[in-house]
Amino acid sequence: MVVLTKMKLHIVPPSCFARAAGDYIVSILLEIADSFSLTIGTATGGTMEGIYTCLVERALRDSILQESLQKASYFGMDEYVGLCAEDHQSYAFFMRRHLLSPIGIPIENLRLPSEETAIPVPDVFDDYSVYDQMIASLGGLDIQFAGIGENGHLAFNEPGSAITSWTRRVQLAQSTIDANARFFSDPSEVPREAYTMGLQTVLKAKRVILFASGKKKARAIQRMIEGLSGPDCPASFLLSHPDVTVFLDWDAAANLRNVFNP
Ligand code: GLP
Repeated sequence: MVVLTKMKLHIVPPSCFARAAGDYIVSILLEIADSFSLTIGTATGGTMEGIYTCLVERALRDSILQESLQKASYFGMDEYVGLCAEDHQSYAFFMRRHLLSPIGIPIENLRLPSEETAIPVPDVFDDYSVYDQMIASLGGLDIQFAGIGENGHLAFNEPGSAITSWTRRVQLAQSTIDANARFFSDPSEVPREAYTMGLQTVLKAKRVILFASGKKKARAIQRMIEGLSGPDCPASFLLSHPDVTVFLDWDAAANLRNVFNP
């Protein structure tokens, strides 16, 4: 483990990335889980899929961990505009499939910043600050999981997003639409808009763990950690967070100049 300013950096071989990341989450959850219920900010995407699989395996073998995950509250980082909860590409469906259902977490425990897939569905969802207020009313996020876009986005805070941003509806960058087209049968089906937590929503979390694997993330990780912190690479705003861990495989870490590279 390398410590860069306040950021903790873990770099592991690609072959054990998901397992090591899942084990790391478990170690943190067991450290902070107490008699109170955790509030967890969740991420989606290909990177998180394998990590959740490992987390589920651990939870099914450990009743204390499973119970703690069952009573936690979950707040999704983002969601596509226009997809319903039953749509296999919605992040509501992703979370149910990869984390909630296998562990037996009630679907009501997951909230999303979305008009279409929010649970429970609000009467009116035209004021997105409601999402930030819901999180604040539970005492804030105890832990936030995050991925990173190839263009440096954090949740769907695309390049150009202000550090002062809160939950809102956004246009997706063309590079994000292109990157996420692999999940859709036809690239034209990729939504052009999304709902996203804001950068302030993420930065207010007590602790953040960002996961990245694969060569396609190497440039974004290098810009985030060694570049100038700013809106060109929204994930770089995490450098100002007092408790952030970046969990990488060798490929995602390949462009970092200032750390040991195998
Ligand atoms: C998606 C999600 C992000 C996620 C990122 C990485 O667009 N909205 O929240 O962090 O892209 O996804 P993947 O792991 O599939 O590369």
